[in-house]
Amino acid sequence: MTMQLTREQLLSAAGEYGTPVYIYHAERINEQYLRLTNAFKGTDSRFFYAAKALTNIHVLRYIREIGCNVDCSSINEARLALYAGFEPSNILYTSNNIAFEEIEEAKHLGIHINIDSISNLEKFGKKFGHTYPVGIRLRPNIMAGGNLKISTGHAASKFGVPLEDIEQVLRVQKETGLFIRTLHIHTGSEIKDVEVFAKGIEVLFEVAQHFPELEVIDLGGGFKVPYMPGEEGTDIEKLGKKVKEEFEEYERKYNRHLQVWFEPGKFLVSEAGYFITKVNVLKKAGNISFAGVDTGLNHFIRPMFYGAYHEIENISNPSGEPKLYNVVGNICETDTFAENRSLPEIREGDFLVFSNAGAYGFEMASNYNSRYRPAEVLFKNGLPQLIRRRETFEDLLSNQI
Ligand code: LLP
Repeated sequence: MTMQLTREQLLSAAGEYGTPVYIYHAERINEQYLRLTNAFKGTDSRFFYAAKALTNIHVLRYIREIGCNVDCSSINEARLALYAGFEPSNILYTSNNIAFEEIEEAKHLGIHINIDSISNLEKFGKKFGHTYPVGIRLRPNIMAGGNLKISTGHAASKFGVPLEDIEQVLRVQKETGLFIRTLHIHTGSEIKDVEVFAKGIEVLFEVAQHFPELEVIDLGGGFKVPYMPGEEGTDIEKLGKKVKEEFEEYERKYNRHLQVWFEPGKFLVSEAGYFITKVNVLKKAGNISFAGVDTGLNHFIRPMFYGAYHEIENISNPSGEPKLYNVVGNICETDTFAENRSLPEIREGDFLVFSNAGAYGFEMASNYNSRYRPAEVLFKNGLPQLIRRRETFEDLLSNQI
């Protein structure tokens, strides 16, 4: 049974902090983390939370407190992680198409680095030789993930070093003495099929023989979580078993021990997040009933950007008679959150809650239409704490000269 915040808790937070507001449930994050570590018991594994899903410093601190490591997609995320108290040895930095200077900065911070281009590998090797271990992000030519926008391992993807260029990696290794400790892939987000990870392992085990100093296989993130009612996420327990079998067999066969790393983002925080909005306006267009809310694609872009489905609940009229609604935003764009959605009767002033809003919700928010980014609240031990105040007019002006 998974933990959830109650309707009363959500309503009272909306009353206290205003809307739109992101609410996170700390213990739910821990629940996911425990599920993960249980599923991989008996395998030499490490988990690095993909901070890009949600970087609020309080969430990062909580993630650290429960014993999880962190994966950062930019040097600033790495700085946030340090600020949140992570040890450099528990921080991983996996960026793409960045200036070499940023990689140098990551080295200076003493964190683990995955490099995603021959060009940067070569620069790193020339400058640091064998003195600092790195990982290489490979593009394994595996099609995976919910849709093309979130699929990153296929043959036309910008991410990683194409598998067919491995000769060049070997050349750089030989010429510069580069210390390659990790092979990394991340093939996409919302990967339900355990076989996709198995395929990744197979590819990396094959490549592994070229790298005598290899210690780690990093399989990235991308575990699917259920978004629709009745939908299933990645079978983590099955994946844990599969990974254990594969790594044990590899060790037996080659007499070589490898550690496995993962970088889950959504899996840890998606279901722990709620996004509460208030209904401003009800409107009819022919048969369509619009419920216009006090937010839009500026605050929660997943439905529009990926066509993502998020469950919606009318928490202020839960037993109202079900009717069909198009739930739409207040931005000067067609920002439709849901079409023809059956919801308990909506009245102006009602509070609607989007589920699965913990990952890539606030984090992808913007100031479009000069609206303030929302507040964030963390529930821990049943108590809400404001962890980011709503923006103000001064924030809109603060960088303008
Ligand atoms: N590792 C790397 C190198 C990544 O690029 C990502 C996500 C992750 C780990 C974490 O993936 P996750 O476990 O969260 O699926 N904004 C999109 C997803 C794009 C993710 C980008 N990279 C969404 O809202 O679905």
